Amino acid sequence: MTAEEIFRGRLIMAPMSRGTDLPFRRLLNEWGAEVCVGEMAYSHKVARGDRAEMALLRRHPEEKIFGVQLAGKKPEVMAEAAQIAEDRGADFIDVNLGCPIDDATKRGYGAALLQRPGRVGDIVRAMKEACNVPITVKLRLGWSSEKPTYLKIARAAEQAGVDAVTLHSRSRAQRYRRPADWSHVTELVRELSVPVIGNGDILGWRDAERRLEETGCAAVMVGRWALTKPWIFQEFRERRDIELDPDERLAVVRRYVELCRELFRDDEKGRVRTRRFLTFHQDFFRRYRRGAGLDAVNSDDPRDWGEPASNELEEWLCRADVPATDALCRWLVDGDEVPPPPAVEPGSPRAVKLKVLG
Ligand SMILES: Cc1cc2nc3c(=O)[nH]c(=O)nc-3n(C[C@H](O)[C@H](O)[C@H](O)COP(=O)(O)O)c2cc1C
Repeated sequence: MTAEEIFRGRLIMAPMSRGTDLPFRRLLNEWGAEVCVGEMAYSHKVARGDRAEMALLRRHPEEKIFGVQLAGKKPEVMAEAAQIAEDRGADFIDVNLGCPIDDATKRGYGAALLQRPGRVGDIVRAMKEACNVPITVKLRLGWSSEKPTYLKIARAAEQAGVDAVTLHSRSRAQRYRRPADWSHVTELVRELSVPVIGNGDILGWRDAERRLEETGCAAVMVGRWALTKPWIFQEFRERRDIELDPDERLAVVRRYVELCRELFRDDEKGRVRTRRFLTFHQDFFRRYRRGAGLDAVNSDDPRDWGEPASNELEEWLCRADVPATDALCRWLVDGDEVPPPPAVEPGSPRAVKLKVLG
């Protein structure tokens, strides 16, 4: 498949560490997502066959289009890891040029490469030589907003033969503090002849359609809001709003648990993993509210999330503190009797502390 065939006109699921795990990608496929990118994998670990890293390359036989994302700075290691990913069934391979966390940037990976167009070209060239599937890159505007480098980096990647470029329209320094500035996506579309995928703050099918039209980009990518609302892909396909009531939302969470169970099995070890995955996802699932806007992904305060919860179940589904998440896990993962909704304990810590990447 060419990059045009993979991306043109589509809403793409963004790569998200801890977010785009295999069971969750299957859930998204069921809601109409056709192209998903897995969690970032370190190329040096893939090249040496590290078990945990190899698990990030795994695809389900029924999965639709699946891209593997790699982080690294050495062209030969990136090429070797890309070849391994292709052998394991990746439909395309993406290079992470945006990860802002210290663990990656101190090693010279992710956003650190936004200052090294020559190196980016070498990486893409080596990966192109090693693989038959399309090679793509995903970048931010630059290390800081004052010095955007995305045009230079994207040109270097294009000259080296890259097949598509995704732009998350914020700098590394901005993290999520400011809204994404899509004028840069328009600029990049003008500059490149390969498909450009725009990314940042897509909250619904209307945003996706508007961004496609306004910028002329080939595709748009959604991250946080798809973790919250997996049915965004069906909304996009059918160009209509889909509102789920609390029981329907619970069914989505249950289905995710079922898909985890299929992968991890239903023994004690498997249940521990399912609980861990559900605990992460619950912190996004809980943010869905009718009428929710950007605040729902950017704020932890449910009062910012749109209409108030309509009943006890919805109230519970909107929580991610430890007692609420534990009770949800006991009910949905361990199969305990439905517990009464746990009382709110003021100051109870959230069950998961998010480390925001990309
Ligand atoms: C929890 C989390 C994990 C992420 N992991 C990655 C990653 O592994 N690779 C990557 O390129 N970007 C990663 N990102 C960034 C997203 O792919 C996306 O670019 C960003 O969230 C902007 O899109 P959005 O506004 O639709 O969320 C991550 C973001 C979050 C919130």
